[in-house]
This record gives sequence, C-alpha cells and structure tokens, in this order.
Amino acid sequence: MAELLTSQAKERLYSASKVVILTGAGISAESGIPTFRDKDGLWTKFSPEELASFDAFYKNTRMVSEFYQKRREIIEHTEPNPGHKALAEMEQLFDDFHIITQNIDGLHQKAGSNNVVEIHGNIMNNYCIDCKKTYTAAEFEKIYEENSEHIPRCECGGLIRPDVVWFGEQLPGDALEKAFHLSEAADVFFSIGTSAQVRPAADLPIRALQNGAYLIEINPTLTGLTNFTHLNIQEKGGEILPRLKKEIELNFRH
Ligand code: OAD
Repeated sequence: MAELLTSQAKERLYSASKVVILTGAGISAESGIPTFRDKDGLWTKFSPEELASFDAFYKNTRMVSEFYQKRREIIEHTEPNPGHKALAEMEQLFDDFHIITQNIDGLHQKAGSNNVVEIHGNIMNNYCIDCKKTYTAAEFEKIYEENSEHIPRCECGGLIRPDVVWFGEQLPGDALEKAFHLSEAADVFFSIGTSAQVRPAADLPIRALQNGAYLIEINPTLTGLTNFTHLNIQEKGGEILPRLKKEIELNFRH
C-alpha cells in the first residue's frame, strides 16, 4: 500500500514537537453522528436559526430543549470510532499534542485523548441562564423528565440551557485563547473533518500556517482550506487515521 506521508511531511513530523489537530463533525461521522453541511447534515434538515440560537431557545424552549435532549441521549450511547482512537494513540508519539475540537460530543475524551480543547462547548453540560448554576447531564435529565412541559428550570426559576455555542454567541474565552495560542505555536497542524466554514475555528489553521506550521488536511471532500494545505489526504478519518498513526510510529518513533 502506498505511503500517505510525503517525504516533506515525514521530515516535518519527525522534527515536530508541537502537533495540533483541529477536528469538526466529520471525525464523528463514522460513529453515526451526522455532520452539519453534508447531504444528510443537520443544517440541511433543520434550520439553525430555529434550533441553535438563544432567541429560539427563549421563544421556543420546549422544542429546543427536546432537540438537545434527544441529541444528548444519542451521543451518550455513541462510541468513538477508529479515527478518534488513532488520535488518542498519536498523543503518545509527540511531546506536545493537542486536539482543538468544534464537536460537542466528548468522543475524543471517551477515546482516551487527554489534551482536548472544546471551543463550541459540550452537550453534556448545562447551566442556568440567570444564576449560572451548572447541571450535569444526569441532573438535567431529572429536571427535564419531572417537568411535563419539558421546560427545565433552575431552583432560582431561570431556564436551564445546554452549554454549547449557539449562532450569534461568543465562543468560551479561555478555550478560544488557548486554541489560538496552540495554533500559533504548532509545528504541524492537522485539519480533520471540518468544512472550515465557521469562524473563528476556520481561522485557526490559517493562523498556524502564517506562523510556519506544516498544514495537513484529512477530509473526503475539498474545502475552502484545501488550497492552502501542504498535504491533502482525501479520505475518511476513521479509515485513514489508524494507517497514518502506524506510519508515523513505524517511521520515526521507536
Ligand atoms: P460541517 O458539517 O460543516 O463539515 C463536516 C466536514 O466533514 C465536511 O467537510 C465533510 O466533507 C467532512 N467529512 C464527512 N465525513 C467525514 C469522515 N468520515 N472523515 C473525515 N471528514 C469527513 O461540520 P463542521 O465543519 O464541524 O457549530 O461545522 C462547524 C460548526 O458548524 C459546528 O461546530 C457547528 C456548526 O454550526 C456550532 O454548533 C457552534
């Protein structure tokens, strides 16, 4: 089987001490979680304005809460795929290895990755919009089930929302700052399973590139980022990442 890495990619990976991975919905597609903008994507079936904005939540709390509770239940029963697992194993091969993810499903952590920066939040976490009290998925579920209207309220009376970033909202400041800092310092930067259409996440690979990183994209389709990459691997993450990890291991790390 032909090698995935070019000689230049090997050289850059061999000398890399800081490796950063940006992931999007595509990395979880092979676990059965739909992406957003592909043929069967969430945003081709549902309108983001009606489900993923604070206005929608405030005006139609029941519908939005039910949508997120359903997704939460699906994600709870979803397992990481070979792509997530290969990334968790790759962490052991480099001195400094971080994953920045746009995903809210927690599957990188479930696969065993330790250094994960979640820039769009995590669907398992919830908080009161008034007093900011936080609720775990189990705590939330209890309140949600007890309320026949499925309008979950905090002890203070405020509505409880999922801790995810909605359209028109700022990203969590600490996570975003860390993501930019890591990207700027990266020696090799991988963009995996993201259409690179949503900012500021889409700025991260560009920022890495501007600061001298070697840029590798893994995505079965071309994206707006493809033209800027040094190496483009047009394959599915779950199929290619285990091979890539083995290649790195065999070539340079003993
Ligand atoms: P998109 O749905 O925009 O893009 C998914 C990408 O994954 C596409 O480029 C696909 O080609 C690619 N893909 C599909 N299957 C794949 C596979 N098996 N392996 C690798 N790649 C595959 O999803 P994101 O780029 O993650 O934001 O979208 C970014 C943000 O838009 C999301 O985080 C979400 C959404 O609105 C918020 O909810 C804040």
